[in-house]
Amino acid sequence: MTTHSDDRQFWDAAAARFDDEPDHGLRDPRVRAAWAARLRSWLPAAPSDVLDLGCGTGSLALLAAEQGHRVTAVDRSEPMVALAREKLAGTDARVLVGDAAEPPVTGRFDVVLVRHVLWALPDPGGVLGTWARLLRPGGRLVLVEGRWGTADPVGITADALADLAAPLGGAVRIEQLGHDRELWGRPVDDERYAAVVRPAIRPQRHSEIVDVHLILRRGDEVLLARRANTGYADGLLHAPSGHLEDGEDVRSGMIREAREEIGVELAPQDLTAAVVLQHRAPDGGARIGWFFVARHGVGGEPVNREPDKCSELGWYPLDALPHDMVAYCRAALDAYRAGQPFLLHLHEKGDAIAYDPAGPHRAVPLTAPAVPGSRP
Ligand SMILES: C[S@@+](CC[C@H](N)C(=O)[O-])C[C@H]1O[C@@H](n2cnc3c(N)ncnc32)[C@H](O)[C@@H]1O
Repeated sequence: MTTHSDDRQFWDAAAARFDDEPDHGLRDPRVRAAWAARLRSWLPAAPSDVLDLGCGTGSLALLAAEQGHRVTAVDRSEPMVALAREKLAGTDARVLVGDAAEPPVTGRFDVVLVRHVLWALPDPGGVLGTWARLLRPGGRLVLVEGRWGTADPVGITADALADLAAPLGGAVRIEQLGHDRELWGRPVDDERYAAVVRPAIRPQRHSEIVDVHLILRRGDEVLLARRANTGYADGLLHAPSGHLEDGEDVRSGMIREAREEIGVELAPQDLTAAVVLQHRAPDGGARIGWFFVARHGVGGEPVNREPDKCSELGWYPLDALPHDMVAYCRAALDAYRAGQPFLLHLHEKGDAIAYDPAGPHRAVPLTAPAVPGSRP
């Protein structure tokens, strides 16, 4: 171990020799067998989904994959990741570059496995909460840690780790490992242990904001509003829209938003649902967007009722929409024209909010492919 565990450059430089330590490279069959046996006892029955954070060269990830688990491994050091990818080639494991404190993963796992990383992270207590929220119900954290050295020790004691894990509730089982020389390839006299933490906190039920959007049609044209001073997508054209209020149904919300934003008084029978999409801004959470169609003329002439948030209203041809639009709105209108009612539009970090005809194209239709048997 080292005193520099949180230093990215240190780990980049250490990668090439990292596996020289017996417990890192697991080159000695006895050491390897000792870790394999311990790991098997800490993990649930295979196959399970294991997330190995701060995976280094991927030695434990490989053992987990060999034991039949579906492994995702993450490390912040690109040289470490390159070596892990080499080591895990031939398995189904994925190896990603990313921060263990904010893993670049979606979905949930049965196990978050972390060896010799937690102690050096800036907020180990906070990070345990993050990891617990990545677990499925019944999932576990397997944390292999220690307090290395005797004169000037670094690391985290088992007692301190148990205190950090206490807010998660549930059970913490500590297994001391220092006495098992097979694990280290030599005798050690400092504290080394594994903590298997089964948090009691339930993953929070997923919730999303719902927003409603109006496709107000005047013949072949659609009404768009140019956003201003809102902090989101300002300067871009967007369908008149807003969030649902607590307890509101989507059609009532659409009627309210049409009144508030453009002064159009719609009745329920004036609205037809046309597109529903799950959309995500480049830096935001996902939302569910409903798009309703109404005909121009019913409910009165639209006027800009929110000039502090909207610099202009305008009519645009549906079959030649402008480019300076919010990308997901553009995708929804294109889907509407194509008769495609359901889609995903999930931006990746770094994407622009504005539509770009050159892409990236994030729209994924969700209804059956037009040709049976064809790929979506
Ligand atoms: C002592 S090594 C442990 C490697 C591996 N877990 C093992 O036991 O063989 C520490 C690893 O954590 C990685 N690391 C340190 N801080 C990290 C962070 N914030 N996010 C992701 N990886 C990190 C380092 O790049 C290094 O590969």
